[in-house]
Amino acid sequence: LSTINIGICGLGTVGQGVWKHIDSNRVALESRLGVTLNLARASVRDLKKKRTVRVSAGALTLDPLSIATDPSIHIVCELIGGTTLARQVTIAALKAGKTVVSANKALLCKHGPEIFAAARKHGGHFFFEASVAGGIPIIKALREGLVANRFKLIYGILNGTCNYILTRMEREGLSYPVILKEAKELGYAEADEALDVEGWDTAHKASILAFLAHGTWVPTEKMLVEGITQITQADLSFARENGYAIKLLAVITREADTGEVFVRVHPTLIPKTKVLANVNEVYNGISVTGDVVGETVYIGRGAGQDPTASAVISDIADAVILLNRGNTHLPEPVETRASLTPLQRITGR
Ligand code: NDP
Ligand code: HSE
Repeated sequence: LSTINIGICGLGTVGQGVWKHIDSNRVALESRLGVTLNLARASVRDLKKKRTVRVSAGALTLDPLSIATDPSIHIVCELIGGTTLARQVTIAALKAGKTVVSANKALLCKHGPEIFAAARKHGGHFFFEASVAGGIPIIKALREGLVANRFKLIYGILNGTCNYILTRMEREGLSYPVILKEAKELGYAEADEALDVEGWDTAHKASILAFLAHGTWVPTEKMLVEGITQITQADLSFARENGYAIKLLAVITREADTGEVFVRVHPTLIPKTKVLANVNEVYNGISVTGDVVGETVYIGRGAGQDPTASAVISDIADAVILLNRGNTHLPEPVETRASLTPLQRITGR
């Protein structure tokens, strides 16, 4: 295929980020992938809403299912959120043999087995790098980079909104509702922010990591889940005075004898000497310990338009490679002009 037609279902925070960054990095992306990336169609709920990207009226629809089943579309990005319409769109697209890219952790946690079965049955593919930890390529790390390992322990900060709130409360003494409002305006929070602050979004993400690491879906009903809504300034001061930070952590463990996988989500005191205690603002941090590699740690922005778009576009790139078997996205050699020696560049002389 020389032109890949992409349909964006949901042109909100993430959808507009994907549109914007495919356009802004088009030359580099297309030369790496050897194809033209055609942003062919997009769906929204409200046609009158102002968008930050320019989409022709003819490309916009109110019906995401029409994109999912459009024979000309190769890759469908499900960026609507929720689990009802998003499930219908995803299943319809997979049934039509399409590749689906999704950022929807709630959907995957609830319907993961059905989605993967549909992809297998109809020969489609399902990519979900953006579903956990925003811009950090943690899905790739578990699926590919760390495939030699069995995972003794995975824990991390998986919700940007909660980390942003805890950081700002701790640093600036701001009140919880003020910061939550800010996190919403910045595009970090879920449409239903209770998912963030009550710990469910972290639980959804932990369930995806547990599946990738151990091959088992742990339903949220079997997890211990507590969010950050009960954390007070007094808790944060107590932690600081004693050399700790409070972070909302997901912890994933597997019993060596029974093989049972446990997931818990709760605010945790972390000594300030540890890396994760210093992961602040909207950043996420994940520690993965494998029996072969030892501990590896990943840090990056965990929510927001740009980091999430980065992850979605990496999935689109992988999907293009799958569609055009044999084509890899190594960069084309680029001609540069030799001007300064490395030493001159560093010293400025
Ligand atoms: P937004 O609410 O900003 O965007 C959702 C989009 O879907 C909007 O364009 C909206 O239309 C459309 N939409 C919503 N409901 C319907 C409906 N019933 N019918 C038709 N269209 C609908 O969400 P985000 O972009 O923030 O999130 C999208 C997905 O990405 C979610 O699954 C979220 O969990 C996930 N995600 C979000 C991150 C973030 O930082 N925001 C990070 C990682 C993942 P309209 O614009 O007209 O209202
Ligand atoms: N609401 C989510 C968060 C978005 O704050 O982490 C990223 O998944």
